[in-house]
Amino acid sequence: MTEPSKKQRKPDPCSFIVFGATGDLTHRLVLPALYNLAAADLLPDKFCVVGIARKGMSSEQLRKGLLEGLHQFATRPVDDAIAQRVLECVTSIEADPKDPASFDALRTRLERLETNRATGGNRLFYLATPPAAFAPITRELGRTGLLKEEGGAWRRLVIEKPFGTDLVSAKALNDELLKILTEHQIYRIDHYLGKETVQNILVLRFANGMFEPIWNRNHIDHVQITVEEKIGVGHRGSFYDATGALRDMVPNHLFQLLSLVAMEPPAKFDAHTVRSEKAEVLAAIQTQSEAEALRNSVRGQYQGGKIGDAEISDYCKTPDVKPGSTTETYAALKLAIDNWRWAGVPFYLRTGKALGLKRTEVAIKFKQAPFAMFASTPVESLAENYLVIGVEPTEGITLQFNTKVPGPTINIDGVEMKFRYKDYFHVEPTTGYETLIYDCMIGDNILFQRADSVEAGWQAVQPFLDAWKKVGAKGLETYKAGSEGPAAAEELLKRDGRSWRKLG
Ligand code: BG6
Repeated sequence: MTEPSKKQRKPDPCSFIVFGATGDLTHRLVLPALYNLAAADLLPDKFCVVGIARKGMSSEQLRKGLLEGLHQFATRPVDDAIAQRVLECVTSIEADPKDPASFDALRTRLERLETNRATGGNRLFYLATPPAAFAPITRELGRTGLLKEEGGAWRRLVIEKPFGTDLVSAKALNDELLKILTEHQIYRIDHYLGKETVQNILVLRFANGMFEPIWNRNHIDHVQITVEEKIGVGHRGSFYDATGALRDMVPNHLFQLLSLVAMEPPAKFDAHTVRSEKAEVLAAIQTQSEAEALRNSVRGQYQGGKIGDAEISDYCKTPDVKPGSTTETYAALKLAIDNWRWAGVPFYLRTGKALGLKRTEVAIKFKQAPFAMFASTPVESLAENYLVIGVEPTEGITLQFNTKVPGPTINIDGVEMKFRYKDYFHVEPTTGYETLIYDCMIGDNILFQRADSVEAGWQAVQPFLDAWKKVGAKGLETYKAGSEGPAAAEELLKRDGRSWRKLG
């Protein structure tokens, strides 16, 4: 993320090599993001896109497919001249890690292209592939020397989520990558960091004088992080059934939100310092025993129901989901951060699919005021003091507080002060990938996950994965599609005398 005051500059000349060029991710996000960057004049002047597709495909065919995808997924009306400018940079090359000779041929063709396009040998390899291909592709790129930084040229590798499926596999993947690349060459994407409101958490906390003095256990009662989705599992049955809500969302997206909210102020706004503070706070999440993990978690699976007008069937009836599957589509956790700032402040996290609402937010609940002065007002009629960072559906910040109801007697009611991005700024709709791709091209990895953060995230969720695996179907709650999730998630907070923030 560039500093707010830094004027955006054009990236160095480079080639952008996408593995998985015919896949969903490239069509849905990568190409529309490149298009938006081209529209903002933020692509390098000397640039080429190489699409790696396993089955042989001509450049013409690849461009045609990408253009169709662009028309389907662009975030704004497509200007033909800009689309042509991006697409004329695209070349299709075949490479399959099972066929090492194809990577030798890739090297020869890429070097020729780089000379013709005068990209100076700078390369951005983007792995928009299924995770099983990450290591084999990287090994081949390493073997052929394509990732070696030499002669002043940079070589970078972008890796999509999921990064491992547990602590052991994430460590193994990090070890494998770090044999071939150095950490500064690796860009592990978490698309939540491309969201404006998520990036704004740092600005809210550290560019304002009034929040930081109260951002601690003396004033904050607890923190709630919610990522609720209306969509079910849809066509992703086989991926999702092997993954579940916890792996899919918590060690990555929810922990990005958690680390930005809970980290210590970085001394400098640079990648090393910011990422070190984030890793530090993730490492401070208490590792729970399996018994504690069971007590401090709820998992659920949706059953058929109605979301708006759409009927959705039981999770277990989703194509490619095993009948009788015990995979969770909802997870709620209570975590503790063992450091001076957060000791005794629980962090409650919840995420689920097929719920009645689409909502992503962080709600900071401040401690109750001593209400001695208003002893006659029943506590339950007083509003709770929340600072809410809204990511979806409304991007903004809301402060909830009590105020006097006009009139001769002292009656108190809760009100909200709301900031909404769209009221202040006109922003073109984006995919969220523009900033991430741009930052890869300028070599700023502040918005990308470092190896230690990824591992600290898995470390914190591993006891839940292990405990749930052991108990299988026991303790798996159900909830109706279109509802608020399993009732047990309410209990998780209720037993601490708390409740999830309701929408106003
Ligand atoms: C992805 C998950 O990483 O994030 C999906 O694999 C999920 O299951 C998605 O739907 C949520 O992203 P967003 O931006 O819609 O909150």
